[in-house]
Amino acid sequence: MTVFADYAPWYDLLYRDKDYAAETAFVEARLRDHGATSGKLLDLGCGTGLHAIEFARRGWDVAGVDLSHEMIASAKARAEQAGLSIPFRQGDAREARPERGFDAVVSLFHVASYQTSRDALAAMFRTAHAALKPGGVIFFDYWYGGAVLAQGVETRVKVIEQKPLRLTRIAQSDHDEQAATVTVNYTLFCEDTDRATIRRVEEAHHLRYWFPFEIDAALEASGFRPAVHAAWLTQDAPHTKSWAAYAVARKSGTP
Ligand SMILES: C[S@@+](CC[C@H](N)C(=O)[O-])C[C@H]1O[C@@H](n2cnc3c(N)ncnc32)[C@H](O)[C@@H]1O
Repeated sequence: MTVFADYAPWYDLLYRDKDYAAETAFVEARLRDHGATSGKLLDLGCGTGLHAIEFARRGWDVAGVDLSHEMIASAKARAEQAGLSIPFRQGDAREARPERGFDAVVSLFHVASYQTSRDALAAMFRTAHAALKPGGVIFFDYWYGGAVLAQGVETRVKVIEQKPLRLTRIAQSDHDEQAATVTVNYTLFCEDTDRATIRRVEEAHHLRYWFPFEIDAALEASGFRPAVHAAWLTQDAPHTKSWAAYAVARKSGTP
């Protein structure tokens, strides 16, 4: 089953409490710290377009790419509704395509951890490199290995009610410590309480946790100069309490 295919229509409901506007403001501030203040921004793994739209509202000239047709369809519909013209296309972030001349590339909410091998991660960085102007900046977040190992993985249940819909998600994870990967097996129960219907959806998401030194090696091999790693939404060094970390790097030379 294609990851995010059956999941996509429920994605925004699941993450309705995620503050995309605040996250975008934070990411924009870090881009600014590293010299990317305005211009063209590419969102790799843009999902349903929530960050991309926030960046466009802040004046960036945005484009987005995502592997999932369903996520892209949802991003296009949302941008149209907001009266924004954002070229969203379905595509693989590991394959460089037409995007060129960007001032910044972002890849948010664990897209880098959906790249489960060093080669795949480096291929995504090469796409960003090809898209960026010289000196351009990449910002992305990832599952931080130190936190995953310290906290461990466990079964999690999330219930969200938005009448008449009730969504119950069970996330059961298998951890492969040798490969530094986690397979999250999602079971979603999508209920319409008015119609008394219930649908069951299953998806397995395979993710890789990373350590900053591995990311830096892949960045350097792809023509970037790593600048910083920090715990998500802070400027503190990555630590065991924060599952997500982010990195910022500048395009330096040829990969
Ligand atoms: C957790 S979602 C995050 C989506 C969006 N960035 C957000 O913040 O809501 C991860 C996204 O990465 C996309 N993705 C994973 N690997 C990809 C790849 N190689 N190329 C393009 N998109 C990818 C998935 O399709 C999915 O939409």
